Amino acid sequence: MPPAQAPIILGIESSCDETAAAVLVNGQVRSNVIAGQTVHQQWGGVVPELASRAHQEHIVPVVHEALRSAGVRKEELHAVAFTQGPGLIGALLVGTCFARSLAQGLGIPLLAVDHLRAHILAHLIVDKDPRPIPGFPFLNLTVSGGHTLLVLVRGPLDMEVLGGTLDDAAGEAFDKGAKMLGLPYPGGPLVDRYARQGDPGRYHLPLPSTKGYDMSFSGLKSAFNRLVTDVRERPDVDMEQERPHLCATLQQAIIDILLRKLQKAGRQTGVERIAISGGVSANSGLREQVSALALREGWRSFIPPFDYCTDNAAMIAMAGHHLYLAGRFSGLDTVPLPRH
Ligand code: KG4
Ligand code: ZN
Repeated sequence: MPPAQAPIILGIESSCDETAAAVLVNGQVRSNVIAGQTVHQQWGGVVPELASRAHQEHIVPVVHEALRSAGVRKEELHAVAFTQGPGLIGALLVGTCFARSLAQGLGIPLLAVDHLRAHILAHLIVDKDPRPIPGFPFLNLTVSGGHTLLVLVRGPLDMEVLGGTLDDAAGEAFDKGAKMLGLPYPGGPLVDRYARQGDPGRYHLPLPSTKGYDMSFSGLKSAFNRLVTDVRERPDVDMEQERPHLCATLQQAIIDILLRKLQKAGRQTGVERIAISGGVSANSGLREQVSALALREGWRSFIPPFDYCTDNAAMIAMAGHHLYLAGRFSGLDTVPLPRH
């Protein structure tokens, strides 16, 4: 059967702690449903076994709701896209098995999506609020809880990793730093909120020197731990008052590490479109400073709306859309790939 001109794709995301489903009609979002998982908060991080169980509970109602709110019957779908990896094996298995069964039951193609490529393709999602979509090529910083990559994007299916973190991910640096301050998981959004009231110049954190486009966050984490311990031990200090300044200092150091490499890549490759995606791209400081960097250099910057920054299924369906158009279908025996 020739591919549909205006494909209707169901996307399913279950790589970590969000169960999500979305329907895209010819690249336009018709629905984007997410069920988060609160069970992890009390443990200070995602507990893989609890995540799998919650995905099992959520997946049927979430897919149902995505189809219902899109006004699409499952028989109208042209393909099912799902996150193959990277992610937690048990969590990925839930989405993979569900997508395989649905595609088999409906007799339609299955599309196995790489979660990190999907974070980048979130830029191409079209919804009812118009915004500029980057042309190719563009440089993308993919910054999430598990990954930090600088990618040259030549086309929807043509990407080259220029560099990445040598140790922790940027989101991990936010979350671990937040934990040192006694903030609950995930700490990134809270650090962002406190940082808005803080002075990033109050304290000093050393920045790493890494080669090429590679980055490192583990030294920063240790330095921040020492700083927090030191501030806490000062007899005249009120930690409540210092928290915004500590958050602002940490956030600025993470942003500096990221943007130095993005600036270097833009200057060296001559690619004048820069973009960010992934959970950390929801950070208000990073968003502002990426725009400011583009303005200073005479480049253009692209930042997805909040809903498409953190894990979502619209981006999985978008990646699926391009795999579908290229005829890159996956077998019904496709298994999860938890690691790259
Ligand atoms: O992409 P994502 O939703 O899941 C992964 O694939 O990892 O990213 C989650 C990460 C977490 O580390 C979270 O703390 C971070 O994104 N994050 C933020 C903000 N919102 C989410 N970090 C800093 N500032 C934010 N506003
Ligand atoms: Zn993600």
